[in-house]
Amino acid sequence: MTKKVLVCDGMDSAIFSKLLSNEEFNVYPEAKNSQEIVKKEAQDADALVIRSSTKVNKEFIDKCSNLKLVIRAGEGTDNIDKTYCKEKGIKVANTPGANNNSAAEHAIALMFTLLRKTAWANSSMQTGKWDKARFTGNEMTNKTIGIVGFGRIGQLVAKRLVGFEPEILFYDPFISSHSIGYNNIKKVEKLEKIFEKSDIITVHVPLVDQTKNLIDKKFFSLMKKHAIFVNAARGGIVNEEDLLEALKLNSIRAAALDVFLNEPLKEKTNLHEIENLVLTPHLGGSTQEAQFRVGEMAYHQLKEFFINDNLLNEVRA
Ligand code: MLT
Repeated sequence: MTKKVLVCDGMDSAIFSKLLSNEEFNVYPEAKNSQEIVKKEAQDADALVIRSSTKVNKEFIDKCSNLKLVIRAGEGTDNIDKTYCKEKGIKVANTPGANNNSAAEHAIALMFTLLRKTAWANSSMQTGKWDKARFTGNEMTNKTIGIVGFGRIGQLVAKRLVGFEPEILFYDPFISSHSIGYNNIKKVEKLEKIFEKSDIITVHVPLVDQTKNLIDKKFFSLMKKHAIFVNAARGGIVNEEDLLEALKLNSIRAAALDVFLNEPLKEKTNLHEIENLVLTPHLGGSTQEAQFRVGEMAYHQLKEFFINDNLLNEVRA
């Protein structure tokens, strides 16, 4: 029997066409564009392929009477109630590694945006100005870079940055060894050290109970006045109000956020009003390359699960 599959938050078009033409699956193309259609069609769906927009919470799951598999086309599964899925016998999987390079590159792009003030320079140019003096920046070379979370993405960030000959500090209670192949890299035992010592701080931990609100005013107060802060991991790890306070008081130089406690961000929030804060709409995994790899992996996992009874990349509650 064909399996009903909903691709909820978009997918690479070549992979989506392959999925559409596979007779084993009955795919609803409209679901890509509307959460209303997702909710309606999910009632008898066998599988969902989601990114970060669809929230597979208790209320959603209760409406699905036939669901067997949720594939998170990406890394973080914090938008899925995995405990409730387990209770209902629904399997959860993700596509580990497929978009890590894009996530790491986006964090680095945000670092450069802050260091060289390109976002602000662009806004100024668009108003017709040529304000060269206002946008004197700083180099990346030889800076101390603090990485919070040294899993796959944190390590990729380090690897990509070694050409800038930085001192790299990382904090991760679960990682003791790595293969970056660079001498000037050191694990710190206390998160405080990252904030005290670094010129550039970037966050790469998942959102789990232990990392909720992990970074708050205590840590911002330790930062050097010229230091910059980037979070392209998950909202909820960083206390947004405390970050705003530090930015408003200029006790740190600038920050960039790609992820937020509540996504999508509403049209007007107090985050929009802060001059030294750059915002992007959860773009970490949003490249053609990442979306192709993620889609390819998700498609393979769908086939393995429904045709070969083989669950790949399971994420347990
Ligand atoms: C992820 O968890 O994979 C990233 O946040 C990227 C995304 O889903 O867009």
